Amino acid sequence: MDNEKKKSWEKRLEGEPDEITIDFVESLSVDNRLYKYDIVGSIAHAQMLAEQKLITKEEFKQIKDGLVEISQEIAEGRFKFDKTYEDIHMAIEAALVKKIGEAGKKLHTGRSRNDQVAVDIRLWMRDEIEVLQAKVTLLQKGFVKLAGKYAENVMPGYTHFQRAQPIVIASYLLSFVEQLERDFVRLKNCRALLDVSPLGSGALAGSTLAIDRKSTAKQLGFADISYNSIDAVSDRDFCAEFIFDCALVATHLSRLAEDWVIYSSSEFGFIRIDEAYCTSSSMMPQKRNPDLLELIRAKTGRVYGSLMAMLTILKALPSGYNRDLQEDKIHVFTASDTVKALLDTAGAIVSHTKFDTGKIAAGLDEGFLDATALAEYLVGKGIAFREAHGIVGALVAQCEKQNKKLADVTLDEFKQHCGAIETDVYENLGAGKVAGKYVTEGAAGAKQAKEQIAYWNNRLGER
Ligand code: ARG
Repeated sequence: MDNEKKKSWEKRLEGEPDEITIDFVESLSVDNRLYKYDIVGSIAHAQMLAEQKLITKEEFKQIKDGLVEISQEIAEGRFKFDKTYEDIHMAIEAALVKKIGEAGKKLHTGRSRNDQVAVDIRLWMRDEIEVLQAKVTLLQKGFVKLAGKYAENVMPGYTHFQRAQPIVIASYLLSFVEQLERDFVRLKNCRALLDVSPLGSGALAGSTLAIDRKSTAKQLGFADISYNSIDAVSDRDFCAEFIFDCALVATHLSRLAEDWVIYSSSEFGFIRIDEAYCTSSSMMPQKRNPDLLELIRAKTGRVYGSLMAMLTILKALPSGYNRDLQEDKIHVFTASDTVKALLDTAGAIVSHTKFDTGKIAAGLDEGFLDATALAEYLVGKGIAFREAHGIVGALVAQCEKQNKKLADVTLDEFKQHCGAIETDVYENLGAGKVAGKYVTEGAAGAKQAKEQIAYWNNRLGER
């Protein structure tokens, strides 16, 4: 190894590391994307060292200028990443020493890569959460906009994937806005919990030098510092939480994807995915496939994989920093990159999808969507719900045998089942009529959907 390339511990270990060692321990190929945060963290650390008179003001200036130059070199692709330096922290430090000499050798005073990397990931994640939240919001807005077009149109609502009760299309779409809102808040909470600076915790025990942790925390915009150095260098709870939050976003989008794969089939024909977001078949010329939705569904597995991997890395780790923790980043990055792509893709599809309201309306009479409303009509006539349920159940069974709808039952026939039924019963029959009768807050009717749209326009407009 030439002199330039020697690592900071060259005096401790004899000879040169084996190729296998270099390749196996390096994380530079993954953590190079932390470079900006590493440099910002180092500048804050150096400024604190100067404040504490552990280095001179002149040395601080040299360090800062050198790091800014390195940052530019990396941004412009002029920096040569050399994996013999293992990770982004040592690659930058070595480049600094090469650039400015003696002053560069003082940067790592009172610091370890253990607290350094913990700071870097937190800084990265704070920004990344904002990016994710912006994408979540954009998708929410897309759903609200689409809902606005279908506030009055009724579709079948499903439970157990069997026809259940009528809902307006808007309320179906707005159910995703709710799910995404929880994702937004979860990310916000994750950000709040990770907002402490571990810098100054050193390798695990802090330092005998007068490191001012509050100064670096303040410079880096952290809300607080961590209060136990051993925990601080080994805490990756926030990584597991972050990936979990990503996993739930993916879960929600996978449910949307599954719905829409089904809704866009010829059997359903509820929606038409814009052709810009379809693919075709190499063999079957007629095909118009929802591959993007299928891939949203499948890529969710990647995010779950990252979550499982992260938790497994943390399980039963001995206290303090262990090199295992280096494997956190690939999973955090994979989860985030995947979910960003899922959000972008779902956003594009949602804003270009059309519901075939004619086709949906034509099929609404199938499946006795009005049965529950009929039972509730009977409750209004003074009949106990459990009894009403039985009466309507028998009516449905009879209609099914006679191949007719509840709305086709004559008043005489109704009266044979229940004397309390009067002509006003017909106002409660048919999916379209039922959807206009919901009165509970948050119900799936047009009135409530319009209220929700107004609420979300207002709330999301502020973001
Ligand atoms: N690349 C390491 C990581 O990502 C940095 C810390 C390594 N510390 C050590 N003492 N080996 O976790």
